[in-house]
Amino acid sequence: MSDTGNAGAAERLFVALDLPAAAEARDLAARLAPLGVGLKVGLELFTAEGPALVRELAAAAPLFLDLKYHDIPETVARAVRAAARLGAAVANLHVAGGEAMVRRAVAARDEAAAAGGGAPALIGVTVLTSLEGDDLRGVWGTDLAGGASEHARRLAGLARAWGLDGVVASAREAAAIRSDCGPGFLIVTPGIRPAGAAPGDQKRVLTPAAALRAGASHLVVGRPVTRAADPLSACRDMLAEMAAGA
Ligand code: C5P
Repeated sequence: MSDTGNAGAAERLFVALDLPAAAEARDLAARLAPLGVGLKVGLELFTAEGPALVRELAAAAPLFLDLKYHDIPETVARAVRAAARLGAAVANLHVAGGEAMVRRAVAARDEAAAAGGGAPALIGVTVLTSLEGDDLRGVWGTDLAGGASEHARRLAGLARAWGLDGVVASAREAAAIRSDCGPGFLIVTPGIRPAGAAPGDQKRVLTPAAALRAGASHLVVGRPVTRAADPLSACRDMLAEMAAGA
């Protein structure tokens, strides 16, 4: 339940719990609970505190388990099964892990869903937004046609063809991906800053309303909420911006 009157917006927002320890994460989750927003657990908190905290948080709010799986197909399929048992609403994996890895992950998720225990939406990581043309050339030893943006768009097409429910994508690519992949495809977009906020280390930022207009289905926001003097009010303002601009 949302106390904002912006329940539709709350369902489309994940707040990144980029925090070092369970106490801070529980505290922030409890403060944000009245808004009905989703929560995202990433590598830092998961590595520090482990699955018990994820299970606890997932019982109280839609939880995006952002562990970006990238391994051999069997290992990733087993990790997806474990993520389903934790109650994650969304989990992700690198599309660059290849077709067999992605398809096995989707099959593992579908089996978990069929067994009745609930299972996460699976979304693909295309190109990390920290990588640009020169980084990609450095890794792959060749120029990728069209640079990072075109590469991300291409990987989003593969994600859809291989059965994923959506992708994580920067707002810069959201419009092209929306047009390629159609209305039901999830596009989860980080790099969100309310009008007038500091970008931090994000190179390309968009306001909540602009990201939704670009085609994002869901937004991920971290520091503008987690480091605000009053996270509840910062998050409520963000939901209002989403509702006004969508
Ligand atoms: O604090 P900020 O709003 O920049 O946090 C953004 C969140 O989204 C972080 O948890 C970060 O890991 C995540 N993210 C990102 N860019 C991506 C993928 C994930 O910023 N391409």
